[in-house]
Amino acid sequence: MTRVALLSRTVDMAPLARLMLKHDASLDLHAWPDEQFLQAEVAVCWEPPQGIFTRMPRLQLVHGIAAGIDNVIEGQALGDLPVCRVTDPGQAEGMLQYVLWGVLHFHRSFDEAQRNQTSERWQRPRLRPAADCRVGILGLGEVGAPVARGLARMGYSVSGWSRSAKTLDGVRCLHGDAGLQTLLQSVEILVCLLPLTEQTRGMLNAQLFAQLPPGAALVHCGRGAHLVPDDLLAVLRDGRLRGALVDVFPQEPLPPGHPLWAAPNLVVTPHMATMAPFDVVARQIVENIHRLRDGRELQGQVDLLRGY
Ligand SMILES: NC(=O)c1ccc[n+]([C@@H]2O[C@H](COP(=O)([O-])OP(=O)(O)OC[C@H]3O[C@@H](n4cnc5c(N)ncnc54)[C@H](OP(=O)(O)O)[C@@H]3O)[C@@H](O)[C@H]2O)c1
Repeated sequence: MTRVALLSRTVDMAPLARLMLKHDASLDLHAWPDEQFLQAEVAVCWEPPQGIFTRMPRLQLVHGIAAGIDNVIEGQALGDLPVCRVTDPGQAEGMLQYVLWGVLHFHRSFDEAQRNQTSERWQRPRLRPAADCRVGILGLGEVGAPVARGLARMGYSVSGWSRSAKTLDGVRCLHGDAGLQTLLQSVEILVCLLPLTEQTRGMLNAQLFAQLPPGAALVHCGRGAHLVPDDLLAVLRDGRLRGALVDVFPQEPLPPGHPLWAAPNLVVTPHMATMAPFDVVARQIVENIHRLRDGRELQGQVDLLRGY
């Protein structure tokens, strides 16, 4: 019997616990702050309390419940503990739908039509083929690569940027500092699908926005702390950026009265771009618990040195 701790300061883990038991009724589940969690071998986490892993002497595996692992590892002492995340093709499909909506919003000038509606102005925008619309994707991982390929299949002119060199069908793949510069200078719609690490924190800032062609647009669905809100506000207000669709914010929920709610040409969505169904999350965690127990290779293990 494996003891599992459910650790979150912000999310009710009870529904996930019920689904995990459906996949393995023998699991011994204890949710923080019930002290029984201290003897657990596996910790299943979303924003766990700070320093908690150091109080768990029998801990052998830390598991996130989403694609991003930043909220699990940030500021925590993990030593050699393996850390796993959830990867789900269905999640990438949901992200493609979200990004496609954003790309169409700007490519097909729905933003312009919406603005015109407020002044009862009937003006048909110019119809441009998708191939004329240059989309740049920052991050070509489990989510970014299928999004890049999906947009390319729909005819968009897609470039992507990653840390290491890559080859993706129909996508111009770039990497490194020079690759980033090339991508930024050439895109019309920039999509952020990077993980949050020490290298990428605060990357969507004034300096990056200044490298985009005037009138470019942003679709941000990576992590909130990639974004410097005041820098985004400035480029939206002075019109340097045509508009933005933003799903993730340094502070979530975005507080009432925050200037971003009313920023010009900004669509705010409440961290809804995509999510693996809880049943998939439960199944993957239970599978990894079985793998740990049997000494088999874990799935979705994160490289802690890289931070993603
Ligand atoms: N808003 C939502 O609802 C939602 C839902 C799901 C996921 N997300 C977010 O989407 C993001 C992407 O998730 P994922 O699962 O695709 O991540 P992933 O599989 O870890 O892929 C990360 C990608 O970013 C690249 N990268 C990392 N650090 C880099 C750096 N310093 N410079 C250049 N490229 C770098 C990686 O390059 P290499 O390929 O060379 O390693 C890789 O291509 C995460 O932030 C996740 O939290 C958001």
